[in-house]
Amino acid sequence: MKGTFFRNGAIIIEIAKFGVEEWLNKWEKEARFDISQSSVAALTLRELTALGGTTTAAFFEKLNSRKMDYGWIEGSPAFKNLVAELYQNVTAENILQTNGSTGANMLVLYALLHPGDHVVAPFPTYQQLYDIPRSLGAHVDFIHLEEDANWQLDVDRLAAIVTPKTKMICLNNANNPTGTLLERTALEQVVAVARAVDAYVVVDEVYSPLAGSSDFVSIADIYEKGIATNSLSKTYSLPGLRIGWVASPNDEIINLFRKYRDYTLISSGVLDNELAVLALSNREKILQRNREIVSENLEIVKHWIEKEPRVELVLPNYVPTSFIKLTIPEDDYSFCASLLKDTGVLLVPGSAFGVPQHARLGYCCNKEILKQGLSLLTRYLRKFDI
Ligand SMILES: Cc1ncc(COP(=O)(O)O)c(C=O)c1O
Repeated sequence: MKGTFFRNGAIIIEIAKFGVEEWLNKWEKEARFDISQSSVAALTLRELTALGGTTTAAFFEKLNSRKMDYGWIEGSPAFKNLVAELYQNVTAENILQTNGSTGANMLVLYALLHPGDHVVAPFPTYQQLYDIPRSLGAHVDFIHLEEDANWQLDVDRLAAIVTPKTKMICLNNANNPTGTLLERTALEQVVAVARAVDAYVVVDEVYSPLAGSSDFVSIADIYEKGIATNSLSKTYSLPGLRIGWVASPNDEIINLFRKYRDYTLISSGVLDNELAVLALSNREKILQRNREIVSENLEIVKHWIEKEPRVELVLPNYVPTSFIKLTIPEDDYSFCASLLKDTGVLLVPGSAFGVPQHARLGYCCNKEILKQGLSLLTRYLRKFDI
């Protein structure tokens, strides 16, 4: 494997560069029309505290005498109870707070995987879910998602690739970048495949659908070796809080995570925990706001697609990430770079996800930014018509 070498008799595996993060770290602050992000438009602190019927000043005034110690190590009881309410079969005891879903994924993969383990993951997906396993020495087999099949996971192919040695199946539901969802029936089929070989199923659920009629179910509610990771970053519009969690019905697995978590995190901090509790206590209000954004902005995108001959899209499942196909005589990477330079519009090139001639369109931003960004993109695409 590329990036693998030996030092003093030990195998060292160098982790690959994280395509999407590298691109965004380099360019996002230069964008004037950022239509690349995968969160629903972030809430301000003022908006968040207002949802709880207070002001930012009053909220922090109440915290004035709070000691800045480590706070609750696994997340406060209020946090754990509020998160447990999102599941049917997970108790508050089995919720562990993490530093975002990134931290949750890292914890789970680090705790469970060892050199030589067999892991199966879809492709494309969030790179963390396969490149951390590879960096830990696991062998990853991919199930390629096909655009012609609406980017849906083919469970028969999964069944064919899984062996009694498979340790873990890693999914992202809904999937980044494609925005498509594995509904309950298909996820139950995945569980049947995993159960037959006693494999873990880890599902990063940061993009659970906000609207539409899709039948989403958490892996933690349907599988005894299921592990769900999630956060407040996408569906809840609060990536700046850096609060996520791991949930599983399985005490043994959660206890293993506790052990590894002591080495990697300790706690997520007193202030972020308090703000997370405020957000989760006002969950319905945030979800209502975001349902409107996702539905209304998706309509804007649908109308745009109808009139834009160089772009095709498998519609995302009311989640804030979507993946457009570009019919252009230029590679997607240099196209996205010159688009930004010439117009201020930011997309993420599909190559950052290993899928050339595509781009991630994050359409759940401010509506005016979306409309202007799409209109500039359309004008820019016309240069290929002559
Ligand atoms: C699938 C997936 N998981 C995790 C993350 C990171 O989320 P967090 O902010 O919760 O760490 C992202 C961000 O793009 C993502 O797409």
